[in-house]
Amino acid sequence: MTEEVRRQLAALRAELHHHNFAYHILDAPVISDREYDKLFRKLEKLEEAHPEYHDPDSPTQKVGGSWVPEDFVAETLPKVAHRLPMLSLENVENEEELTDWTGRVARGLPEDTEVTYTVEYKMDGVAVELIYEKGVFVLGLTRGDGVEGEDITGNLRTVRSIPHRLPKGAPELLELRGEVYMDSVGFAEMNARRSAEEGLFANPRNATAGTLRQLDPRIAADRPLSILMYGVGTLEGIAAPSQSELINERLAEWGFPAAPFFRTAATVEEIEAIYEEVAAGRDDLPFEIDGLVIKVDDPALREQLGARSRAPRWAVAYKFPPRQATTRLLDIGVQVGRTGAITPVAHLEPVEVGGVIVQRATLHNPKEIARKEVKIGDVVVVQRAGDVIPEVVKAVHERRTGEERDFVLPPNCPECDEPISFPEDEIVPHCVNIGCPAQVRGRLRHFASRRALDIEGLGEKLIDQLVTVDLVRTPADLYSLPLEEVANLDRMGQKSAENLLEAIDKSRTLPLSRVLHALGIRNVGEHVAKVLARWFGHLDPMRQSDQESLEAIDEVGPIIAETLVDFFGREENQREIERLREAGLNFEEPGIPGSVAAAAGEEADGEAAPLAGYTFVITGTLSRRSRDEAKAEVEERGGRVSGSVSKKTNYLVAGEKAGSKLTKAESLGIPVLDEDAFETLLTDGVPQ
Ligand code: IVH
Repeated sequence: MTEEVRRQLAALRAELHHHNFAYHILDAPVISDREYDKLFRKLEKLEEAHPEYHDPDSPTQKVGGSWVPEDFVAETLPKVAHRLPMLSLENVENEEELTDWTGRVARGLPEDTEVTYTVEYKMDGVAVELIYEKGVFVLGLTRGDGVEGEDITGNLRTVRSIPHRLPKGAPELLELRGEVYMDSVGFAEMNARRSAEEGLFANPRNATAGTLRQLDPRIAADRPLSILMYGVGTLEGIAAPSQSELINERLAEWGFPAAPFFRTAATVEEIEAIYEEVAAGRDDLPFEIDGLVIKVDDPALREQLGARSRAPRWAVAYKFPPRQATTRLLDIGVQVGRTGAITPVAHLEPVEVGGVIVQRATLHNPKEIARKEVKIGDVVVVQRAGDVIPEVVKAVHERRTGEERDFVLPPNCPECDEPISFPEDEIVPHCVNIGCPAQVRGRLRHFASRRALDIEGLGEKLIDQLVTVDLVRTPADLYSLPLEEVANLDRMGQKSAENLLEAIDKSRTLPLSRVLHALGIRNVGEHVAKVLARWFGHLDPMRQSDQESLEAIDEVGPIIAETLVDFFGREENQREIERLREAGLNFEEPGIPGSVAAAAGEEADGEAAPLAGYTFVITGTLSRRSRDEAKAEVEERGGRVSGSVSKKTNYLVAGEKAGSKLTKAESLGIPVLDEDAFETLLTDGVPQ
């Protein structure tokens, strides 16, 4: 009974909050005043009868618009871990790759399993997760890095088609996934309303992403956001539905807009036919799609197929080819990146490519220009695919007039005037002056960027100023910026300077993975940085690692290993790292057994991490669990799983049909465990 009352109270309060929100913030009430009053009185009565459940945040405790909580406009978007990681999708681009994928699906399942595939649009928007507890919308998250997303609940509440409450009978805990997007008309109208100062959004997806990251939900409320759901995260109380059941039944039953296009198929030929049909009609759709998503329908089969680190094996994105247009190449300039790489950039007569006006496109490098025989003045084909920078695909030689000229790489860097280095056997010319302002700015921009150390307020213009007045040369300089001098910069002042220093200070607490990404080491992006941070737990052992031990790490190949050895071998980098340490940056990855924190006993102790310090390689087919599950079991106990056998491997776990790894382990005298022995080791630990 009491539980029932609590639930009723919670539901009524949530519902009234929702109507308050719709009325006061969105200016779009969804029920009449009379209905509102009725609900309000019902809540009042129930609260009177149960004073023990008093809640100062209840709508009955707020007068008029004052219900708007003080923290209504968020200061930041807090990060929240997903209960289940939000994976992304592997891409295929043609029938052959699709056939390979279905082949892999078949091989991952018992022979002759019949597989039904589902085919949906791949919506070109922003992935989100909506969390409902006891039928009430409590949290909305971005995908973030897949493990942790940003809390964008306030903005999502403004999306009209997201229900704030679920009908009776819905699961106790429901986490749904879908895509927020803007339709083409809404997007165009919104852009038309924007002033010159505000600037135009490049495309609906950028506009959606930008809107969802706003701190004040009133901005989102003014923009034409829509949502379509296509997946389930966590679900309690009912069995996992098949994709068909989810899209055709459950979503509607719970009150959600489901994927607008849904078919099933049994063969590659059928999928191919759907692909052709959708691709042909793509330009007539009222929103942007960038391909199809093919999924295995049956949840039991999905379970068997499992996932790799970033994407499930049971789904794939079948992407549409990039959109192209022809235009004239007016000139070719060069750009200097943060690594000193010099990239030729095409200056184009503006042209629309799939809804976006393109004026600049990359030509990659001088050898590509020569290979494609592109000359200044040529008519060229440009293409744009998803997020990537537009590129020049080819020149239309038939349209030459004879007036075209060859591109000549300038001898000196346009930014620092030092000679450009371009040895015969290299592909990319470089400005090798590490003090080149373009590189200095580029490194700082990357360091401060959102997915690196996320230093709010340290944007391009401010970095340019800091570099120009020589306050900052390397990232470490940021940590000793004098407040007064920053305050004296253009458009700064005391308050902004204080905010900036505070934001810089905050970056000191971010984990090693972010610091590592921020260092901007070639080939070490966000994902690899995480892999390395989790493996080493601390920057110091990583700095001392040699090529071989780096290569032993799953997902680290010879190229990454070599770049790392080279990076850490350079004195200027060592010096910068020491300065960052002195500045108080965090060189640890929290929660990783084997890290210094763990060794100091703050984290897992020996009990919880019986495999700490042991490296496993898992190969062949296991019968009781997938390799990913086996890996998770090892990691849960503090051990590491590597992709290749080396002298440092402690155990090889060999399932059925183990191949070259087994041979190598045997030749190195590494103990080999069969599935039973592995099982015993998981339960009893390593024999002492
Ligand atoms: S399923 C594990 N279905 O594509 C399954 N994704 O690269 C992952 N997307 O981040 C997602 N339409 O933003 C799925 N019908 C659809 C989709 C879809 C668009 C996006 C989603 C995801 C990305 C994967």
